[in-house]
Amino acid sequence: MDAFLLLNPLLCFLTAASLSAWFVLKRRRTNQQQGVQPPSPPRLPILGNLHQISPLAHRSFHALGAKYGPIMLLHFGSRPMIIVQSSAGAAEILKTHDLVFGDRTVSRRTMKKLAYNQKDIALSPYGEHWRKLKSICVLQMLSNKRVQSFHFIREEETSLLVEKIKACCNSPVNLSELFTLFTNDVACRASCRKKYSEGEDGRRILRLLREVSQLLGRFNIGDFIPWLGWIDRMTGFNRRVDRVAKEVDEFLEMVIQDHLNSRGLEIGESGHGNHEDSFVGILLNSYGDGNIDRDGIKAIILDMIVGGTETVAAALEWTMTELFKHPNVMDKLKCEVRAILKDKDNTTSITNNELEQMQYLRAVVKEIMRMHPPNPFTGRVARQDVKVMGYDIPAGAMALVSAWAIGRDPANWDEPDAFKPERFLGSSIDFKGADFELIPFGAGRRGCPGIGFAMASIRFLLANLIYKFDWELPLRTKWEDLDATEQPGGVTARKNPLFAVPKVAQF
Ligand code: HEM
Repeated sequence: MDAFLLLNPLLCFLTAASLSAWFVLKRRRTNQQQGVQPPSPPRLPILGNLHQISPLAHRSFHALGAKYGPIMLLHFGSRPMIIVQSSAGAAEILKTHDLVFGDRTVSRRTMKKLAYNQKDIALSPYGEHWRKLKSICVLQMLSNKRVQSFHFIREEETSLLVEKIKACCNSPVNLSELFTLFTNDVACRASCRKKYSEGEDGRRILRLLREVSQLLGRFNIGDFIPWLGWIDRMTGFNRRVDRVAKEVDEFLEMVIQDHLNSRGLEIGESGHGNHEDSFVGILLNSYGDGNIDRDGIKAIILDMIVGGTETVAAALEWTMTELFKHPNVMDKLKCEVRAILKDKDNTTSITNNELEQMQYLRAVVKEIMRMHPPNPFTGRVARQDVKVMGYDIPAGAMALVSAWAIGRDPANWDEPDAFKPERFLGSSIDFKGADFELIPFGAGRRGCPGIGFAMASIRFLLANLIYKFDWELPLRTKWEDLDATEQPGGVTARKNPLFAVPKVAQF
């Protein structure tokens, strides 16, 4: 007994020493197997680096990047995440190794539920199915010709918004709300030939779509530490996802049925006449070709409506915020727009030709996309082992390329935190995916197919708002203290709605 008491501390010491040696050796061996890894902040057992990431993750990564450099290895639970925050790193991932990084994201429960088991375009794994859908999307749904054919929708929705603003002239209007309504109505009419924002039902659908984008943008614990998945059950998160998925499915079923009823068709029948006046119509034609099933149609329509609503509304909100914060830029923009439209009859619509001439407006929008990219990251997954910036990245690692950090990188931009649209005048830098210092729409094979659709709405609406109204901030709000706090989520919009006072412009 005495001998055992004496031996016990000795045994404990020996056990602890051997375990520590085993952990050190294991980590060294793992590191050797994994090759040269990117710099990595120290991490906690189980959580990895999750404790170092605030809800505004792009800002946390930026702060960590100042210490660990433009490529870092973090762990979300046990899952490796490569964070890339330089244009050189972005070019390696989105151009040199675009095919290797062709998968979108690790499959998460929320995505499976809300994107019909990833049958959509945005979350679908790289492969034949995705290639077919992307080609339908680029060549038929979002081609330049198709975007042009939706001009009448942008015109009608802009006129309605202008009338709503005129009705509240000289008192504060909630621009954030008006922008979401406008972008949702345009996206729904292009997708379904009909808008779904009116009445109590409409408000419910808008709330639902906002919930979808919040849920998709949220990292929840069970996705990264699977054995803690019970927390998502306990907190009601999984129940919420199931409820939203069910309601979204009911809405999308109604959209398809409305479309078929209006033509007296059953799904799969092609009927007569032009069916290509909306995304649902185009997709129903592809259903006949066997490229897509009913869930696939619903998943893609959701991509189009979610992709085309909050991102575009956030871009509009940030543009007006920065214009209010910089009255000199607002004045310059007003001069440009009003000079180009000076001989115009106020009742006729702004033409594409007139929009093309508005070079300063173009520069303002690029500056917004640099400083406030609505999606701060582009997320991709490595399909095989690959070397990036000299580091070994294992297959299955997720890479987050931060358009936000790259847009604020002093290596790319003079005074990166200053709002200076002039930097784009006479510059050939664009956001279409060829210039890696400006990648709000990503780049490469999986780059955003909606740039033309988004820009057509953004430029047209802004030109109208600047031409038809003079804007002031509500009483007691000074432009220099205008709130610009960001809202966490998949799309970085303003946290608080933007209010401003319109006055009908006097010429
Ligand atoms: C200001 C507006 C928008 C922004 C900032 C934006 C941003 C992005 C980004 C960053 C990606 C990922 C790109 C990559 O991985 O390289 C993406 C993908 C995508 N976007 Fe957009 N987007 C916008 C508008 C739209 C619109 C209007 C639509 C459709 C109507 C759309 C549909 C899509 C789709 C379908 C994908 C997935 C492409 C794929 O995985 O192959 N987006 N978008």
